[in-house]
Amino acid sequence: MKGGLFDLDGVIVDTAKYHYLAWKRLANELGFDFTEHDNERLKGVSRMESLRILLEIGGVEAAEDARAMMAARKNAWYVEYISKMDASEILPGAREYLMALRSRGVKIALGSASKNAPMILDNLGITPLFDAIVDGNKVSHAKPDPEVFLVGARELGLNPTVCVVFEDAAAGVEAAHRGGMRAVGIGTHEALPAADIVVPGLSALL
Ligand code: BG6
Ligand code: MG
Repeated sequence: MKGGLFDLDGVIVDTAKYHYLAWKRLANELGFDFTEHDNERLKGVSRMESLRILLEIGGVEAAEDARAMMAARKNAWYVEYISKMDASEILPGAREYLMALRSRGVKIALGSASKNAPMILDNLGITPLFDAIVDGNKVSHAKPDPEVFLVGARELGLNPTVCVVFEDAAAGVEAAHRGGMRAVGIGTHEALPAADIVVPGLSALL
């Protein structure tokens, strides 16, 4: 491994709970409930695709301009939640593993679907640990398309075959493989059957 490509939400920080709270608030406002089980379908999925799934669950139809307003409302709530985040919310072992890889000369890139990724990294104080940051503002094709990881490898100046992806979402594991990269699954074998290896968290790799 010459390059490590890291997903953010669910790998470095547990922001899924804040995404859930904000989507649930929108669902409740629209008159339906949204459970934590439903929320699993949104992991790794872009903001607009997440909204499409949410509205499908609620049986709500909305035109494009109404959808844009809903997504903006959800994001404003989400930003309110994550603006209070600090380094205590970094997942166990994440900072230590990134530092261990860096000390071995491995280059590190972020490969996240989130447009809020730069603010989250700043709040956690770990922006300097990344040689490249590729987020939802830089790519147009969401996972399982490999674009986010291919751009990450390119920004590190590395061939994808020498890069390893760290992902908690099945769509992200698929993106890694479609880009010619190996994938370490963060979670369970049941949730990530296609991953090359699966660990419960980055601390298991220290
Ligand atoms: C991914 C999350 O990292 O980013 C998804 O797993 C989220 O749940 C997506 O929808 C987009 O995030 P944001 O912050 O741009 O709305
Ligand atoms: Mg994730």
